[in-house]
Amino acid sequence: NDELFKNVISHAKEYGFVFQSSEIYDGLSAVYDYGQNGAELKNNIKTYWWKSMVQMHENIVGIDAAIFMHPTTWKASGHVDGFNDPMIDNKDSKKRYRADQLIEDKIARYEKDGKTEKAAQLQTAMDEALKADNLTALRDLIVEHEIVCPVSGTRNWTDVRQFNLMFSTQMGAVADDADVIYLRPETAQGIFVNYLNVQKTGRMKIPFGIAQIGKAFRNEVIARQFIMRMREFEQMEMQFFVRPGSEMEWYDYWKQTRLKWHKALGTASEKYRFHDHTKLAHYANAAVDIEFQFPFGFKEVEGIHSRTDFDLSQHQKFSGKKIQYFDPEINQNYVPYVIETSIGLDRMFLLTLINAYEEQDLSEGDKKDSRVVLRLHPCLAPVKAAILPLTKKDGLPEKAREIMDRLKLDHNIIYEEKDSIGKRYRRQDAIGTPFCITVDHQSLQDNTVTIRHRDTMEQERVEIAQLDRIIGDRVSW
Ligand code: GAP
Repeated sequence: NDELFKNVISHAKEYGFVFQSSEIYDGLSAVYDYGQNGAELKNNIKTYWWKSMVQMHENIVGIDAAIFMHPTTWKASGHVDGFNDPMIDNKDSKKRYRADQLIEDKIARYEKDGKTEKAAQLQTAMDEALKADNLTALRDLIVEHEIVCPVSGTRNWTDVRQFNLMFSTQMGAVADDADVIYLRPETAQGIFVNYLNVQKTGRMKIPFGIAQIGKAFRNEVIARQFIMRMREFEQMEMQFFVRPGSEMEWYDYWKQTRLKWHKALGTASEKYRFHDHTKLAHYANAAVDIEFQFPFGFKEVEGIHSRTDFDLSQHQKFSGKKIQYFDPEINQNYVPYVIETSIGLDRMFLLTLINAYEEQDLSEGDKKDSRVVLRLHPCLAPVKAAILPLTKKDGLPEKAREIMDRLKLDHNIIYEEKDSIGKRYRRQDAIGTPFCITVDHQSLQDNTVTIRHRDTMEQERVEIAQLDRIIGDRVSW
Protein backbone atom coordinates (compact mmCIF):
# COMPACT_ATOMS: atom_id res chain seq x y z
CA ASN A 1 0.00 0.00 0.00
CA ASP A 2 2.87 2.38 0.75
CA GLU A 3 4.28 1.47 -2.62
CA LEU A 4 0.96 2.16 -4.34
CA PHE A 5 0.64 5.53 -2.64
CA LYS A 6 4.18 6.51 -3.65
CA ASN A 7 3.42 5.53 -7.23
CA VAL A 8 0.25 7.63 -7.27
CA ILE A 9 2.19 10.66 -5.99
CA SER A 10 4.88 10.34 -8.65
CA HIS A 11 2.26 9.72 -11.31
CA ALA A 12 0.44 12.90 -10.21
CA LYS A 13 3.62 14.85 -10.78
CA GLU A 14 4.78 13.15 -13.96
CA TYR A 15 1.44 13.72 -15.71
CA GLY A 16 0.81 17.30 -14.65
CA PHE A 17 -1.77 16.78 -11.90
CA VAL A 18 -0.03 18.07 -8.75
CA PHE A 19 3.28 19.86 -8.18
CA GLN A 20 4.98 20.91 -4.98
CA SER A 21 4.46 24.67 -4.63
CA SER A 22 7.52 26.81 -5.50
CA GLU A 23 9.38 23.64 -6.41
CA ILE A 24 12.32 25.49 -7.99
CA TYR A 25 13.01 26.92 -4.53
CA ASP A 26 12.77 23.44 -2.99
CA GLY A 27 9.07 23.77 -2.26
CA LEU A 28 6.93 25.13 0.54
CA SER A 29 5.78 22.63 3.11
CA ALA A 30 2.17 21.44 2.86
CA VAL A 31 1.40 23.76 -0.07
CA TYR A 32 0.75 22.39 -3.56
CA ASP A 33 -0.01 23.59 -7.09
CA TYR A 34 -2.33 21.90 -9.53
CA GLY A 35 -0.94 21.37 -13.03
CA GLN A 36 -2.63 21.31 -16.42
CA ASN A 37 -4.49 18.04 -15.84
CA GLY A 38 -4.98 18.60 -12.12
CA ALA A 39 -6.73 21.93 -12.68
CA GLU A 40 -9.17 20.27 -15.11
CA LEU A 41 -9.90 17.36 -12.78
CA LYS A 42 -10.38 19.73 -9.86
CA ASN A 43 -12.78 21.90 -11.87
CA ASN A 44 -14.76 18.83 -12.88
CA ILE A 45 -15.11 17.74 -9.24
CA LYS A 46 -16.32 21.24 -8.38
CA THR A 47 -18.84 21.14 -11.20
CA TYR A 48 -20.15 17.76 -10.06
CA TRP A 49 -20.60 19.09 -6.52
CA TRP A 50 -22.11 22.43 -7.59
CA LYS A 51 -24.57 20.84 -9.98
CA SER A 52 -25.76 18.25 -7.53
CA MET A 53 -26.07 20.72 -4.64
CA VAL A 54 -27.19 23.97 -6.27
CA GLN A 55 -28.66 23.03 -9.64
CA MET A 56 -30.48 19.90 -8.46
CA HIS A 57 -31.93 21.47 -5.29
CA GLU A 58 -34.47 24.24 -5.86
CA ASN A 59 -33.95 25.43 -2.29
CA ILE A 60 -30.16 25.73 -2.38
CA VAL A 61 -28.33 28.75 -3.81
CA GLY A 62 -24.61 29.39 -4.15
CA ILE A 63 -22.43 32.33 -3.15
CA ASP A 64 -18.78 33.33 -3.38
CA ALA A 65 -17.69 35.24 -0.27
CA ALA A 66 -14.31 36.92 0.30
CA ILE A 67 -11.44 35.17 2.06
CA PHE A 68 -10.82 38.22 4.26
CA MET A 69 -13.56 38.86 6.79
CA HIS A 70 -14.10 41.33 9.59
CA PRO A 71 -11.94 40.14 12.52
CA THR A 72 -14.95 40.05 14.86
CA THR A 73 -16.27 37.17 12.74
CA TRP A 74 -13.64 34.90 14.27
CA LYS A 75 -14.29 36.10 17.80
CA ALA A 76 -17.98 35.31 17.32
CA SER A 77 -17.38 31.93 15.69
CA GLY A 78 -15.11 30.82 18.54
CA HIS A 79 -12.05 30.40 16.34
CA VAL A 80 -9.90 33.03 18.09
CA ASP A 81 -10.28 31.30 21.43
CA GLY A 82 -10.93 27.71 20.49
CA PHE A 83 -9.40 26.73 17.13
CA ASN A 84 -6.29 25.18 18.61
CA ASP A 85 -4.10 22.12 18.45
CA PRO A 86 -2.29 20.83 21.56
CA MET A 87 1.43 21.21 20.90
CA ILE A 88 4.53 19.98 22.68
CA ASP A 89 8.20 20.87 22.08
CA ASN A 90 11.23 18.68 22.43
CA LYS A 91 13.88 20.70 24.26
CA ASP A 92 16.81 18.96 22.55
CA SER A 93 15.73 19.03 18.91
CA LYS A 94 13.69 22.24 19.35
CA LYS A 95 11.04 20.56 17.22
CA ARG A 96 7.35 21.09 17.85
CA TYR A 97 4.78 18.32 17.54
CA ARG A 98 1.08 17.84 17.91
CA ALA A 99 0.75 16.00 21.21
CA ASP A 100 -2.19 13.88 20.01
CA GLN A 101 -0.28 12.92 16.85
CA LEU A 102 2.71 11.69 18.85
CA ILE A 103 0.35 9.55 20.92
CA GLU A 104 -1.44 8.25 17.83
CA ASP A 105 1.89 7.22 16.34
CA LYS A 106 2.64 5.33 19.57
CA ILE A 107 -0.75 3.60 19.38
CA ALA A 108 0.06 2.52 15.81
CA ARG A 109 3.43 1.24 17.03
CA TYR A 110 1.75 -0.84 19.79
CA GLU A 111 -0.65 -2.26 17.22
CA LYS A 112 2.17 -3.17 14.88
CA ASP A 113 3.93 -4.95 17.75
CA GLY A 114 0.78 -6.91 18.59
CA LYS A 115 0.21 -5.05 21.88
CA THR A 116 -3.46 -4.44 21.12
CA GLU A 117 -4.60 -4.09 24.71
CA LYS A 118 -2.00 -1.41 25.41
CA ALA A 119 -3.00 0.35 22.20
CA ALA A 120 -6.68 0.36 23.18
CA GLN A 121 -5.90 1.66 26.69
CA LEU A 122 -3.80 4.50 25.36
CA GLN A 123 -6.48 5.38 22.82
CA THR A 124 -9.15 5.61 25.52
CA ALA A 125 -6.91 7.67 27.78
CA MET A 126 -6.07 10.07 24.95
CA ASP A 127 -9.73 10.44 23.91
CA GLU A 128 -10.65 11.30 27.50
CA ALA A 129 -7.84 13.85 27.82
CA LEU A 130 -8.81 15.51 24.53
CA LYS A 131 -12.48 15.57 25.45
CA ALA A 132 -11.70 17.26 28.76
CA ASP A 133 -9.12 19.60 27.13
CA ASN A 134 -6.75 18.29 29.78
CA LEU A 135 -3.29 19.27 28.55
CA THR A 136 -1.49 17.96 31.64
CA ALA A 137 -3.04 14.54 31.12
CA LEU A 138 -1.85 14.54 27.50
CA ARG A 139 1.69 15.28 28.61
CA ASP A 140 1.50 12.61 31.31
CA LEU A 141 0.60 10.03 28.65
CA ILE A 142 3.60 11.06 26.55
CA VAL A 143 5.90 10.65 29.56
CA GLU A 144 4.27 7.46 30.87
CA HIS A 145 4.48 5.72 27.47
CA GLU A 146 8.09 6.81 27.00
CA ILE A 147 7.41 8.56 23.70
CA VAL A 148 10.63 9.89 22.18
CA CYS A 149 11.22 12.75 19.76
CA PRO A 150 11.54 11.31 16.23
CA VAL A 151 14.44 13.70 15.57
CA SER A 152 16.54 13.76 18.77
CA GLY A 153 15.44 10.40 20.16
CA THR A 154 15.13 11.96 23.64
CA ARG A 155 12.24 12.36 26.10
CA ASN A 156 13.02 15.90 27.17
CA TRP A 157 9.56 17.44 26.66
CA THR A 158 8.04 20.83 27.50
CA ASP A 159 4.47 21.24 28.75
CA VAL A 160 1.63 20.87 26.27
CA ARG A 161 0.28 24.23 25.06
CA GLN A 162 -2.53 25.32 22.76
CA PHE A 163 -1.52 26.69 19.36
CA ASN A 164 -4.01 28.62 17.21
CA LEU A 165 -4.31 27.39 13.63
CA MET A 166 -5.37 30.63 11.97
CA PHE A 167 -3.01 32.57 9.72
CA SER A 168 -3.05 36.30 10.34
CA THR A 169 -1.93 39.26 8.31
CA GLN A 170 -2.29 43.04 8.40
CA MET A 171 -4.73 45.11 6.47
CA GLY A 172 -3.83 48.65 5.47
CA ALA A 173 -0.59 50.46 6.12
CA VAL A 174 -0.39 50.63 9.90
CA ALA A 175 0.68 47.44 11.58
CA ASP A 176 -0.95 47.74 14.95
CA ASP A 177 -3.22 45.21 16.63
CA ALA A 178 -6.41 46.75 15.36
CA ASP A 179 -5.49 45.93 11.78
CA VAL A 180 -4.83 42.23 12.24
CA ILE A 181 -7.08 40.12 10.07
CA TYR A 182 -7.23 36.39 9.50
CA LEU A 183 -7.27 34.21 6.43
CA ARG A 184 -10.48 32.24 6.84
CA PRO A 185 -9.91 28.75 8.31
CA GLU A 186 -13.29 27.57 6.95
CA THR A 187 -15.61 28.92 4.26
CA ALA A 188 -18.69 28.42 6.45
CA GLN A 189 -18.52 31.80 8.20
CA GLY A 190 -18.83 33.60 4.85
CA ILE A 191 -22.20 31.89 4.54
CA PHE A 192 -23.37 32.67 8.09
CA VAL A 193 -22.58 36.38 7.87
CA ASN A 194 -24.49 36.52 4.57
CA TYR A 195 -27.50 34.62 5.87
CA LEU A 196 -29.74 37.71 6.06
CA ASN A 197 -28.59 39.06 2.68
CA VAL A 198 -29.34 35.83 0.85
CA GLN A 199 -32.54 34.99 2.71
CA LYS A 200 -33.99 38.42 2.00
CA THR A 201 -32.78 39.04 -1.58
CA GLY A 202 -33.48 35.45 -2.63
CA ARG A 203 -36.80 35.36 -0.73
CA MET A 204 -35.73 32.00 0.64
CA LYS A 205 -38.10 29.94 2.75
CA ILE A 206 -36.89 27.55 5.43
CA PRO A 207 -35.68 24.86 4.91
CA PHE A 208 -33.09 26.23 2.48
CA GLY A 209 -29.36 26.02 1.88
CA ILE A 210 -26.44 28.22 0.86
CA ALA A 211 -23.48 26.58 -0.87
CA GLN A 212 -19.97 27.80 -1.49
CA ILE A 213 -16.65 26.60 -2.88
CA GLY A 214 -13.49 28.39 -1.83
CA LYS A 215 -10.07 28.50 -0.26
CA ALA A 216 -9.42 28.03 3.44
CA PHE A 217 -6.15 28.32 5.36
CA ARG A 218 -4.85 26.53 8.43
CA ASN A 219 -1.40 26.62 9.93
CA GLU A 220 -1.26 22.84 10.24
CA VAL A 221 1.79 21.76 12.13
CA ILE A 222 2.08 18.33 10.68
CA ALA A 223 2.21 18.09 6.94
CA ARG A 224 1.43 14.55 5.97
CA GLN A 225 0.27 12.31 3.21
CA PHE A 226 0.63 14.60 0.23
CA ILE A 227 -2.50 16.74 -0.31
CA MET A 228 -4.45 15.21 2.63
CA ARG A 229 -3.41 17.94 5.05
CA MET A 230 -2.46 21.25 3.50
CA ARG A 231 -1.96 24.78 4.77
CA GLU A 232 -3.91 26.25 1.85
CA PHE A 233 -6.78 24.12 0.64
CA GLU A 234 -10.27 24.29 -0.77
CA GLN A 235 -13.60 23.44 0.80
CA MET A 236 -17.02 22.81 -0.70
CA GLU A 237 -19.50 23.64 2.04
CA MET A 238 -23.25 23.92 2.30
CA GLN A 239 -25.21 25.26 5.26
CA PHE A 240 -28.79 24.09 5.39
CA PHE A 241 -31.07 26.27 7.55
CA VAL A 242 -33.93 24.45 9.27
CA ARG A 243 -36.62 24.90 11.87
CA PRO A 244 -35.34 24.12 15.41
CA GLY A 245 -36.39 20.62 16.37
CA SER A 246 -36.23 19.29 12.81
CA GLU A 247 -32.42 19.21 12.69
CA MET A 248 -31.97 15.49 13.31
CA GLU A 249 -34.28 14.63 10.44
CA TRP A 250 -32.22 16.84 8.12
CA TYR A 251 -28.97 15.55 9.57
CA ASP A 252 -29.99 12.03 8.52
CA TYR A 253 -31.15 13.27 5.12
CA TRP A 254 -27.82 14.96 4.37
CA LYS A 255 -25.82 12.04 5.70
CA GLN A 256 -27.49 9.71 3.21
CA THR A 257 -27.60 12.24 0.37
CA ARG A 258 -23.91 13.00 0.59
CA LEU A 259 -22.92 9.33 0.71
CA LYS A 260 -25.01 8.76 -2.42
CA TRP A 261 -23.13 11.59 -4.15
CA HIS A 262 -19.86 9.77 -3.51
CA LYS A 263 -21.16 6.39 -4.59
CA ALA A 264 -22.70 7.73 -7.80
CA LEU A 265 -19.16 8.05 -9.14
CA GLY A 266 -19.00 4.26 -9.19
CA THR A 267 -16.66 3.81 -6.22
CA ALA A 268 -16.99 0.44 -4.46
CA SER A 269 -19.35 0.79 -1.47
CA GLU A 270 -17.01 -0.95 0.95
CA LYS A 271 -14.41 1.78 0.48
CA TYR A 272 -16.69 4.22 2.28
CA ARG A 273 -17.88 4.27 5.86
CA PHE A 274 -19.43 6.65 8.38
CA HIS A 275 -17.54 7.56 11.51
CA ASP A 276 -19.52 9.25 14.32
CA HIS A 277 -17.66 11.86 16.32
CA THR A 278 -17.28 11.24 20.02
CA LYS A 279 -15.59 14.57 20.70
CA LEU A 280 -17.92 17.24 19.30
CA ALA A 281 -16.65 20.64 18.15
CA HIS A 282 -17.73 23.61 20.25
CA TYR A 283 -20.64 24.34 17.88
CA ALA A 284 -22.08 20.89 17.19
CA ASN A 285 -24.75 18.63 18.73
CA ALA A 286 -24.09 15.76 16.29
CA ALA A 287 -21.34 15.11 13.77
CA VAL A 288 -20.27 12.35 11.44
CA ASP A 289 -17.42 11.91 8.98
CA ILE A 290 -17.63 10.20 5.64
CA GLU A 291 -14.39 8.23 5.50
CA PHE A 292 -12.67 6.68 2.52
CA GLN A 293 -10.26 3.79 2.55
CA PHE A 294 -7.00 5.43 1.49
CA PRO A 295 -3.84 3.30 1.14
CA PHE A 296 -2.91 4.57 4.63
CA GLY A 297 -6.24 3.62 6.21
CA PHE A 298 -9.80 4.96 6.51
CA LYS A 299 -9.62 8.77 6.67
CA GLU A 300 -12.10 11.65 6.71
CA VAL A 301 -13.08 13.21 3.40
CA GLU A 302 -16.23 15.00 4.42
CA GLY A 303 -18.02 16.06 7.59
CA ILE A 304 -21.74 16.44 8.23
CA HIS A 305 -22.37 18.56 11.30
CA SER A 306 -25.47 19.61 13.16
CA ARG A 307 -24.33 23.10 14.24
CA THR A 308 -27.52 24.11 16.08
CA ASP A 309 -28.13 27.89 16.12
CA PHE A 310 -24.64 28.45 17.50
CA ASP A 311 -23.14 30.46 14.64
CA LEU A 312 -26.13 32.63 13.79
CA SER A 313 -26.77 33.38 17.48
CA GLN A 314 -23.15 34.34 18.00
CA HIS A 315 -23.19 36.67 14.99
CA GLN A 316 -26.45 38.14 16.25
CA LYS A 317 -24.83 38.81 19.61
CA PHE A 318 -21.55 40.23 18.29
CA SER A 319 -23.04 42.35 15.47
CA GLY A 320 -26.11 43.55 17.31
CA LYS A 321 -28.19 42.77 14.18
CA LYS A 322 -31.31 40.69 14.55
CA ILE A 323 -30.82 37.39 12.72
CA GLN A 324 -34.23 35.77 12.86
CA TYR A 325 -36.62 34.06 10.54
CA PHE A 326 -40.35 34.48 10.64
CA ASP A 327 -41.88 31.10 9.92
CA PRO A 328 -45.39 31.69 8.53
CA GLU A 329 -46.33 28.01 8.91
CA ILE A 330 -46.05 28.12 12.69
CA ASN A 331 -46.37 31.88 13.09
CA GLN A 332 -43.10 32.17 15.03
CA ASN A 333 -39.76 33.96 14.91
CA TYR A 334 -36.61 31.96 15.55
CA VAL A 335 -32.88 31.73 14.87
CA PRO A 336 -32.61 28.86 12.37
CA TYR A 337 -30.69 25.67 13.13
CA VAL A 338 -28.02 24.54 10.71
CA ILE A 339 -26.93 21.27 9.17
CA GLU A 340 -23.62 21.62 7.41
CA THR A 341 -22.00 19.42 4.80
CA SER A 342 -18.29 20.16 4.39
CA ILE A 343 -16.02 18.35 1.96
CA GLY A 344 -12.35 19.03 1.28
CA LEU A 345 -11.88 19.44 -2.45
CA ASP A 346 -8.23 18.43 -2.33
CA ARG A 347 -9.03 15.28 -0.36
CA MET A 348 -11.77 14.43 -2.85
CA PHE A 349 -9.19 14.96 -5.59
CA LEU A 350 -6.74 12.58 -3.90
CA LEU A 351 -9.49 10.02 -3.33
CA THR A 352 -10.45 10.23 -7.01
CA LEU A 353 -6.88 9.79 -8.19
CA ILE A 354 -6.17 6.85 -5.89
CA ASN A 355 -9.41 5.17 -6.74
CA ALA A 356 -8.82 5.53 -10.48
CA TYR A 357 -5.15 4.52 -10.54
CA GLU A 358 -4.43 1.05 -11.88
CA GLU A 359 -1.21 -0.66 -12.97
CA GLN A 360 -2.12 -3.32 -15.52
CA ASP A 361 0.00 -6.17 -16.74
CA LEU A 362 -0.82 -6.74 -20.42
CA SER A 363 1.87 -9.34 -21.12
CA GLU A 364 1.01 -12.12 -23.52
CA GLY A 365 3.32 -15.12 -23.31
CA ASP A 366 6.88 -13.87 -23.70
CA LYS A 367 5.75 -10.48 -24.88
CA LYS A 368 5.99 -8.18 -21.87
CA ASP A 369 3.67 -5.21 -21.76
CA SER A 370 2.01 -3.06 -19.14
CA ARG A 371 0.17 0.21 -18.74
CA VAL A 372 -0.95 2.64 -16.06
CA VAL A 373 -4.55 3.68 -16.57
CA LEU A 374 -6.65 6.18 -14.67
CA ARG A 375 -10.16 4.77 -14.68
CA LEU A 376 -11.74 8.14 -13.97
CA HIS A 377 -15.45 8.61 -14.36
CA PRO A 378 -15.69 10.15 -17.88
CA CYS A 379 -17.38 13.25 -16.43
CA LEU A 380 -14.32 13.88 -14.26
CA ALA A 381 -11.64 13.08 -16.85
CA PRO A 382 -9.43 16.13 -17.57
CA VAL A 383 -9.41 15.43 -21.31
CA LYS A 384 -12.48 13.85 -22.91
CA ALA A 385 -10.94 12.75 -26.19
CA ALA A 386 -7.61 12.80 -28.01
CA ILE A 387 -7.56 13.22 -31.78
CA LEU A 388 -4.69 11.29 -33.30
CA PRO A 389 -3.78 11.35 -37.00
CA LEU A 390 -2.12 8.04 -37.86
CA THR A 391 0.67 9.82 -39.76
CA LYS A 392 1.84 13.41 -40.10
CA LYS A 393 1.23 13.53 -43.85
CA ASP A 394 -1.27 12.76 -46.66
CA GLY A 395 -3.79 15.28 -45.33
CA LEU A 396 -4.47 13.30 -42.12
CA PRO A 397 -3.49 16.16 -39.75
CA GLU A 398 -5.86 18.50 -41.61
CA LYS A 399 -8.72 16.03 -41.33
CA ALA A 400 -7.95 15.50 -37.63
CA ARG A 401 -7.95 19.27 -37.01
CA GLU A 402 -11.33 19.55 -38.66
CA ILE A 403 -12.77 17.00 -36.22
CA MET A 404 -11.00 18.67 -33.31
CA ASP A 405 -12.39 22.10 -34.18
CA ARG A 406 -15.92 20.76 -34.06
CA LEU A 407 -15.62 18.74 -30.86
CA LYS A 408 -13.73 21.36 -28.87
CA LEU A 409 -16.77 23.62 -28.79
CA ASP A 410 -18.32 21.26 -26.24
CA HIS A 411 -15.45 19.29 -24.71
CA ASN A 412 -11.84 19.54 -23.61
CA ILE A 413 -10.11 17.76 -26.50
CA ILE A 414 -6.43 17.43 -27.34
CA TYR A 415 -4.60 16.86 -30.58
CA GLU A 416 -1.45 14.72 -30.72
CA GLU A 417 0.59 13.67 -33.73
CA LYS A 418 3.96 12.87 -32.13
CA ASP A 419 5.18 9.26 -31.49
CA SER A 420 3.71 5.92 -32.46
CA ILE A 421 -0.01 5.42 -32.04
CA GLY A 422 0.64 2.87 -29.26
CA LYS A 423 2.67 5.35 -27.25
CA ARG A 424 0.03 8.01 -27.73
CA TYR A 425 -2.66 5.63 -26.43
CA ARG A 426 -0.59 4.94 -23.30
CA ARG A 427 -0.13 8.64 -22.58
CA GLN A 428 -3.89 9.16 -22.76
CA ASP A 429 -4.54 6.12 -20.55
CA ALA A 430 -2.22 7.65 -17.97
CA ILE A 431 -4.29 10.82 -17.70
CA GLY A 432 -7.62 9.00 -17.91
CA THR A 433 -8.83 10.15 -21.35
CA PRO A 434 -11.91 8.00 -22.08
CA PHE A 435 -11.66 8.15 -25.90
CA CYS A 436 -8.85 8.12 -28.46
CA ILE A 437 -9.95 8.94 -31.99
CA THR A 438 -7.61 7.83 -34.75
CA VAL A 439 -7.78 9.39 -38.19
CA ASP A 440 -6.37 7.20 -40.97
CA HIS A 441 -6.40 7.04 -44.78
CA GLN A 442 -9.81 5.43 -44.85
CA SER A 443 -11.16 8.47 -42.96
CA LEU A 444 -10.43 10.63 -46.01
CA GLN A 445 -12.53 8.33 -48.18
CA ASP A 446 -15.57 7.44 -46.10
CA ASN A 447 -15.61 9.93 -43.19
CA THR A 448 -15.15 7.25 -40.54
CA VAL A 449 -12.56 6.99 -37.74
CA THR A 450 -11.62 4.41 -35.13
CA ILE A 451 -12.56 5.19 -31.59
CA ARG A 452 -10.66 3.40 -28.83
CA HIS A 453 -12.18 2.96 -25.39
CA ARG A 454 -9.82 3.54 -22.46
CA ASP A 455 -10.99 0.78 -20.09
CA THR A 456 -11.51 -2.10 -22.54
CA MET A 457 -8.92 -0.90 -25.09
CA GLU A 458 -11.44 -2.03 -27.70
CA GLN A 459 -11.67 -0.16 -30.95
CA GLU A 460 -14.61 0.39 -33.26
CA ARG A 461 -15.13 2.08 -36.58
CA VAL A 462 -17.64 4.92 -36.42
CA GLU A 463 -18.83 7.76 -38.59
CA ILE A 464 -17.32 11.15 -37.80
CA ALA A 465 -20.84 12.56 -37.62
CA GLN A 466 -21.55 10.20 -34.69
CA LEU A 467 -18.61 11.35 -32.51
CA ASP A 468 -20.47 14.20 -30.85
CA ARG A 469 -23.20 11.86 -29.65
CA ILE A 470 -20.88 9.02 -28.57
CA ILE A 471 -18.67 11.33 -26.49
CA GLY A 472 -21.56 13.45 -25.24
CA ASP A 473 -23.45 10.36 -23.99
CA ARG A 474 -20.58 9.40 -21.70
CA VAL A 475 -19.19 12.70 -20.50
CA SER A 476 -22.25 14.85 -19.89
CA TRP A 477 -23.63 15.04 -16.36
N1 GAP B 1 -16.92 24.12 8.41
C1 GAP B 1 -16.59 22.89 9.02
C2 GAP B 1 -15.21 22.49 8.82
O1 GAP B 1 -14.39 23.24 8.35
P1 GAP B 1 -13.57 20.45 9.15
O2 GAP B 1 -13.86 19.04 9.53
O3 GAP B 1 -12.55 21.19 9.94
O4 GAP B 1 -14.97 21.20 9.21
C3 GAP B 1 -14.03 19.98 6.62
O5 GAP B 1 -13.17 20.50 7.61
C4 GAP B 1 -13.27 19.25 5.55
O6 GAP B 1 -12.23 20.08 5.02
C5 GAP B 1 -12.56 18.00 6.04
O7 GAP B 1 -13.43 16.88 5.99
C6 GAP B 1 -11.43 17.85 5.04
O8 GAP B 1 -11.87 17.16 3.87
C7 GAP B 1 -11.12 19.28 4.66
N2 GAP B 1 -9.91 19.76 5.35
C8 GAP B 1 -9.81 20.22 6.62
N3 GAP B 1 -8.56 20.57 6.91
C9 GAP B 1 -7.83 20.32 5.80
C10 GAP B 1 -6.44 20.48 5.45
N4 GAP B 1 -5.57 20.99 6.30
N5 GAP B 1 -6.04 20.11 4.20
C11 GAP B 1 -6.93 19.62 3.32
N6 GAP B 1 -8.23 19.45 3.59
C12 GAP B 1 -8.69 19.79 4.81
